[in-house]
Amino acid sequence: MAANTVREKKLVILGVTASIAAHRALDLIRLLKAGNYDVKVVATENALHFFPKETAEVFSGNTLETSAYGLGPRVSHVEWAQGASAVLIAPASADFIAKMALGLADDLLSTICLASSARILFAPAMEERMYTHPATRAHLSTLKSWNVQEIPPETGSLASGRSGIGRMAGVETIYAALQKSIEASSSDSRDLLGKKVLISAGPTFEPIDQVRFIGNRSSGKMGYALAEAAIRRGAAVTVVSGPVSLIPPSGANMICVETAREMQDALSIHFHSADILIMAAAVSDYTTENSFSQKKKKDGQDWHLHLKENPDILATLAKSRRPGQTIMGFAAETSLVKKDLQDKLLRKGVDLLAANNISEAGSGFGSDNNTISLIDHDDSLSEEKSGKKKDLADWLIDKILLHRARSLTQ
Ligand code: PMT
Repeated sequence: MAANTVREKKLVILGVTASIAAHRALDLIRLLKAGNYDVKVVATENALHFFPKETAEVFSGNTLETSAYGLGPRVSHVEWAQGASAVLIAPASADFIAKMALGLADDLLSTICLASSARILFAPAMEERMYTHPATRAHLSTLKSWNVQEIPPETGSLASGRSGIGRMAGVETIYAALQKSIEASSSDSRDLLGKKVLISAGPTFEPIDQVRFIGNRSSGKMGYALAEAAIRRGAAVTVVSGPVSLIPPSGANMICVETAREMQDALSIHFHSADILIMAAAVSDYTTENSFSQKKKKDGQDWHLHLKENPDILATLAKSRRPGQTIMGFAAETSLVKKDLQDKLLRKGVDLLAANNISEAGSGFGSDNNTISLIDHDDSLSEEKSGKKKDLADWLIDKILLHRARSLTQ
């Protein structure tokens, strides 16, 4: 493969850990150099049993380091970590993956991983039993939740002579993943810098008694994905979240609530200073007239619950909007009839309405994916899109920004 040439020399820290696949890191160095990257190789002590230090230094044109000691008075690991466009660990052993997931920093490479704000990618290489072990699976999912990118191993013959999953991905695959990641991060725009974004997410729980409640199937994934995207794009983000079991978006001001009333109170406080409101929460339309402070015991009688309507938080907030604010509402519908959506857009008083078809399998509540029909008042931004909630979040923010840009020029 002819490596693509990048215009400006970017630094890649190539981390090499102890695996029989370490010798293939030499081919990676050559690819990276051919792609016009500056490469600094940092190896763990044990990696040097499998990896020729001098050859790596000749190929990379830089000294190979294993330890922060003896690097002089400058705090090199911090400098390197911050100056790098990406940190690539290839091969990544099970032990090193565990270290990263636990935030350990007992050698130069693990310290760099902890200190770096650059993208981190890793290409696991190990025996199948180690790769499929619950401990490794848990570490991989922790790393994934931090946006540390795995370049998955392949199935093939392993160091033990057995065949299975765990063989490090091909160097060209690794190189391509790295390039894609670096390109994506350089095109990451900070187009929400200076903007305050208020997002509601998750369900509301309306208490019936001490243990029972009326809730819904919202997982919070859509709202949290929007929060993560807005934070990445530079916004100051407040999330008002119903009860969910997700890791809060790093950098968000989190306000956790249970009931629709609590959600309304929290949103009302933050709405007046927000530039953008995105209402992705699934708010219960009804609440109980009275709830029991203790668990209601079974008494052989039918139990009739009297429900009363909750306030429409979104419509109420939209009525008190000030100029310059943009509001996006969501709609969970079992069929997407344009006329109904347009009515809802008007009734809620929002600029944009993102409607999910919740009868479609693999979309809407709980899923990682969604299909959204977006509508606005003059239909200029209306579009339907399916994909991962994380990608749809960026698309929806693009639409909000387009709407804001158009409103300014009108
Ligand atoms: O959380 P996930 O599992 O990722 O699922 C995402 C989602 C399906 C919950 C989300 O994409 C979504 O559609 N959220 C809105 C669900 C909903 O409540 O739809 P609705 O048609 O009932 O309400 C329309 C809008 O009014 C919504 O923005 C809602 O937040 C708001 N609303 C509703 C009722 C109410 N009393 N007050 C409100 O503000």
